[in-house]
Amino acid sequence: MAAKARKKTPAKRALRSAQWFGKADKDGFAHRSWMRNQGLPSHVFDGRPVIGICNTWSELNPCNAHFRRIAEHVKRGVWEMGGFPVEFPVFSTGEAMLRPTAMLFRNLASMDVEEAIRGNPMDGVVLLVGCDKTTPALLMGAASCDLPTIALSGGPMLNGKYQDQDIGSGTHTWKFDAMVKAGEMSLEEFMSAEAGNSRSSGHCMTMGTASTMASMVESLGIGLPMNAAIPAVDSRRYVLAHMAGRRIVEMVRQDLKMSKVLTRKNFENAILVNGAIGGSTNAVVHLLAIAGRMGIDITLKDWDRLGHNVPCLVNLMPSGKYLMEDFYYAGGIPVVVRELGARIRKDALTVNGKTLWENSKDAKCWNRKVIFSIKKPFKKQGGIAVLAGNLCPGGAIIKPSAASPKLMKHRGRAVVFENIEDYHARIDDPKLDIDENCVMVLKYCGPKGYPGMAEVGNMGLPAKVLKKGITDMVRVSDARMSGTAYGTVVLHTAPEAAAGGPLAVVRNGDTIELDVAKRRLHLDISEAELARRMKALRGFKSPHKRGYAKLYVDHVLQADKGVDLDFLVGKSGTPLLRESH
Ligand code: FES
Repeated sequence: MAAKARKKTPAKRALRSAQWFGKADKDGFAHRSWMRNQGLPSHVFDGRPVIGICNTWSELNPCNAHFRRIAEHVKRGVWEMGGFPVEFPVFSTGEAMLRPTAMLFRNLASMDVEEAIRGNPMDGVVLLVGCDKTTPALLMGAASCDLPTIALSGGPMLNGKYQDQDIGSGTHTWKFDAMVKAGEMSLEEFMSAEAGNSRSSGHCMTMGTASTMASMVESLGIGLPMNAAIPAVDSRRYVLAHMAGRRIVEMVRQDLKMSKVLTRKNFENAILVNGAIGGSTNAVVHLLAIAGRMGIDITLKDWDRLGHNVPCLVNLMPSGKYLMEDFYYAGGIPVVVRELGARIRKDALTVNGKTLWENSKDAKCWNRKVIFSIKKPFKKQGGIAVLAGNLCPGGAIIKPSAASPKLMKHRGRAVVFENIEDYHARIDDPKLDIDENCVMVLKYCGPKGYPGMAEVGNMGLPAKVLKKGITDMVRVSDARMSGTAYGTVVLHTAPEAAAGGPLAVVRNGDTIELDVAKRRLHLDISEAELARRMKALRGFKSPHKRGYAKLYVDHVLQADKGVDLDFLVGKSGTPLLRESH
């Protein structure tokens, strides 16, 4: 029956899935027969494109908890275009629950995705992504396979609400926490804000890492227009899912693989857009890692070169006032791309078959309080500044749009925390010798040291400084920070302390100099003294002796290389694998 149907509607090009479903032998029998226990008729095995829907649904990852419904709408589109959708689960790296940090598991999830795609019968993939690390993990894994691929974000939550104000995921968590410490908010009020903070399905609705990465999906061209901003509960999010289902079938027929879409130009567009949206610093390590899988040589220099003069156009928390829901109503990423105009690489293709520029050139802005024009930007300096100096031979980064202008050039006395436990134990000790002019230094929170490069770089200020009404100090670490956080925070110093970087030898009382305009991060001690300290440095011994954490610590690359595992860089495609029986 199946063979007869296949004769009637021959595939123009033998699809990959035909290696499973197209065979008139015992193996073909096995592959089709077991699938048919799901109530599938024989004609779905007639050589039509099989579309994998890679689902990061999990009730332990609330940002992605609505993804089964999204998957159903993708399936509608796939069926409509004559494809055969198959949904499969992968490890969901939820930011809000997973300890010690979701970033530790980004690479593990990417391996899950890569092997699930390569080992199973599929011709194209729709990646359902949302919470921070799910987006890079799925893109990295899919990139190493290189099938036709669309990434579809689950959308942000509706604006948070507390009393009469809009509150933003994460941003107000840090803000309210500082207010409690400063005596400006009661604990009771703090707890009551919790209920309105996350009041719908979706991921964080600030321009944090999840919204940034959804914006990267759109500006890389690996997602459909308006992927980033449509709220998770808006019916138009489900229309987008439907359209992604339709389009991926066409992409398989056109053999429009991921590598034909994701070129250097696409990454350059994404870096430009990241600058203009005041995007998360986490996008740096994620885009470096995705480019590494694609075999495209994007470096920190590209981030600084392209982001150098990009103004911040988007007035969204944590850099500004509004939230993703407002961003959608104002016109979203296409407006930002149109404003960037001549800077955009106009021939960079996207998954809908048009270029990013073609998708954006006629976009209209509906609210100039939310998206500013390039002539009158929200902040003159967006982008990510990449720092150099003796404290970070491999580089470090800072997000100027989230920093205090007066601290962008600063010289101060180092107050050193040897690890995050040391910070927690001493930060509010009244005897701690610290004031607002000091530079807070945190060590051993990088990829190997934590492990997983936790989002602790925006360490909170000491209560005694907050009580003076001071809200920002210069902070330096080898950690990351949440995309929802803000402040004059130097992150990702490379090499990290645990890899023998100079950060490890900073001592209390040393002087540190930060000059963002000159891209300088300097430990003000003599070269001879620095060499002496480095020589005396004892190697870091990870407590992780088994399991994934050991594999990770042994193989993780530094922040300037994207924090991928060294043996995962690059791609292997989807070669014909041996039969399973
Ligand atoms: Fe999932 Fe913020 S916790 S996006």
